[in-house]
Order: sequence, then structure tokens, then C-alpha cells
Amino acid sequence: MSTVISNIGELVTNDPALGEGPLGLVRDAAVVIDGDRLAWIGPATAAPPADDAYDAAGRAVLPGFVDSHAHLVFAGERAAEFAARMSGQPYTGGGIRTTVERTRAASDEELRANLARLIAEMARQGTTTVECKSGYGLTVADEERAVRIAAELADEVTFLGAHIVPAGMEAADYVALVTTDMLAACAPYARWIDVFCEHVAFDAEQTRDILAAGIRAGLTPRLHANQLGPGPGVRLAVACGAASADHCTFLSDADVDALAASDTVATLLPGVEFSTRQPYPDARRLLDAGATVAIATDCNPGSCYTTSMAFCVALAVREMHMTPAEAVWAATAGGARALRRTDVGHLGVGARADVLVLDAPSYIHLAYRPGVPHVAAVWKAGRGVWPISWADKSGL
Ligand code: NIG
Ligand code: FE
Repeated sequence: MSTVISNIGELVTNDPALGEGPLGLVRDAAVVIDGDRLAWIGPATAAPPADDAYDAAGRAVLPGFVDSHAHLVFAGERAAEFAARMSGQPYTGGGIRTTVERTRAASDEELRANLARLIAEMARQGTTTVECKSGYGLTVADEERAVRIAAELADEVTFLGAHIVPAGMEAADYVALVTTDMLAACAPYARWIDVFCEHVAFDAEQTRDILAAGIRAGLTPRLHANQLGPGPGVRLAVACGAASADHCTFLSDADVDALAASDTVATLLPGVEFSTRQPYPDARRLLDAGATVAIATDCNPGSCYTTSMAFCVALAVREMHMTPAEAVWAATAGGARALRRTDVGHLGVGARADVLVLDAPSYIHLAYRPGVPHVAAVWKAGRGVWPISWADKSGL
């Protein structure tokens, strides 16, 4: 089954060899989807015939968003905690334990349904690649079921048993459990290992031990680093070859230099600063130093309960002084780099057919018109997921 998308007013390829600037912009373009891949890209006037045709009517087309950081296997919510923060309470991460209680008490079906709901909510806002972490189970059985359920529906799965030390346990005993039985149970379902490296969670030595155990089990590190204050997280991430250091809110010059000199992506999560009233990360400092920057939602019931990459792009532009082009690149190609994926985050022949048709003439509208519905149509791996209902198509 092939589909030609014609009359594209502005095509973002993220391939400078295909078009103008770092976004590889092509005007008056067409693309052809064949199966789950892109089979052709070129001028609208030269578009070949296909089984099906979609007229983009001059709209902008982008690679689907790559949301490289989300915590989606959970039950319950924490709206009261958010309201308290908006009246001055700080975010400390302590609410994680509330969600752990609710998640442990939920059935597999409830967790699966909540995850499917959130991934569907993401899809209809243009997100076509989703990373999903565990971390609200914190027992061997509860973490195993979190990664197992995540692996059914998410593109990328991360074992985050080291999210916080569960109530009633000593930190040393918990680290010993995470690095042995819990890791053994979870590694078959995950590609990544993550640790919340922060004074309220795990220190440098514990983080190093957990990441080393994960690497021995065949997982690749990524890290929650420097979210609530300065600390060793970012330099540890770089030292152990992590794909990404996430949050990067409180950085020293040495942290910035380390990121800039490495392949570790700095993943910024501006929805968290919005929802916790913390200062935003200094994206300009990272970009100007030469670091690779990604943007993701961090969707979770505590520090940031949004699934909207468009909202994060708008925040990145307005609050972190990124240009619209830098923010869109970070939310697509940047996310792909953070997940070490070459098949998503760009549009070119052979890429996965993850296509986002904006209901706007330019990608700039994502930040220029914040808060409005932006999405006209979405294909994920060649399958129309919006406006056709995801639920109807997937049988969920
Ligand atoms: O990335 N910081 C650690 N984990 C999540 C928040 C989890 C929660 O508050 O439930 C984060 O912000
Ligand atoms: Fe997170």
C-alpha cells in the first residue's frame, strides 16, 4: 500500500543535503509512503502516482516528534500536588512514592489502558516515537511488569528501577536489589538503563554502580541529571557514554564543556520547569558551546503531566531562547539522536514513514501560535494514526 502526500508547502526533512539550512527545508514538495517507509521525496510537480493520495493543500510537513523521555506506566494522578506547587510548595520528587503506591495497587489492564491512552494522546499531537520508563513499581515484580507492559506499546523502553528508594527500605539494600534480581528480571524488556541521580534519590557512587550493572546486562545508560540542583549527574553520564543526560537544569561550566565534547545529548524538558516553577535550563549556553540538544516532554503525573511536544517547542522558544528551527530540530532529530535512532526524526528515502502534517503553512507556527490544535494528519510507520482513531486501528 502506497500513499502520495502532495502539495506540501514547506517540508522539514532535517537533512541539509535535501534542502535549505539545518532543517533541510524543501518548498512545494511531495513524499511517497510505501509500507512503513518513505519511498520517494521530491518536487510536488514530479510526484509519482500511488495507491492513495493526500492533498496537504500548502501545509507544512515535518517528521513526527520523537519524545525521548516519558514515564507512562503509572496509575492515579497528583493534581493536588501541582496546585500546592502553584501556591509555593517546592518540587522535591517525594510525590513519586504516592504514584508508586497507586501503581502497585493497579491491575495490568489498568496500567496498559492508561499507557495506551497516553500514547494515543501523543499520536494525535504528532508524536510518533515514544520512549517509556519504568520506575513506579520499585519491587522486582512491579518493575518487571512495568517494562513488560511498556514493551508492548512504546518504541523504546527504559529500566528506571533506581527512580527513588522505596519507603521502608535502606538505600544500600535497594541498590543491591536493583543491580541484581530486578535488573535480571527487567533487562529482557528494556534497551536502556536510567537512574535519578540527585540528592533526593541516588548519589554518584550508587549511580555509577547501577549504570555499570546495567551495561553488564547489555543495557545502554541514559540519566536523570542536574534536575533539582548542581551535582555529578551530567559528568557521570558523559563518563559512562550515556546516550543522553536529561533535565540539565543546573549546569556548571565543566558540565557544559563535558557535554559539548561528547556524544551525550543534552535532553531538555521545559515542561518540568513550567510545572515546577523552577528556572529553565540554559539552552543557549549548551547550543553555543556545541552540545547536541533534544527536547522531550518528561510526561509523568508529578513533575510534568503534558504529552504535548508542541507545547514544549513553544516553551523552548519563548523561555529557553531557542530559535523555532532549533526547537523543532531538537524535538525531532535531537530526540532521535538521544535514542540513537537513525530511522526516525528525519524524512528521506528509507526513513520510517513518520509524517506529521501541520494545520499551518510553516513549522514556525508551533511556537508562533501556542496552545492551538496544530495537527492535520499523522502517519506512524506508514499507518494513518490521525485523524483516523488510533483505537479503531490498533484494536486497543
Ligand atoms: O523526570 N525526576 C524524576 N522523575 C520524574 C518525576 C517523577 C514524579 O514526580 O512522579 C522527572 O521529573
Ligand atoms: Fe523524567
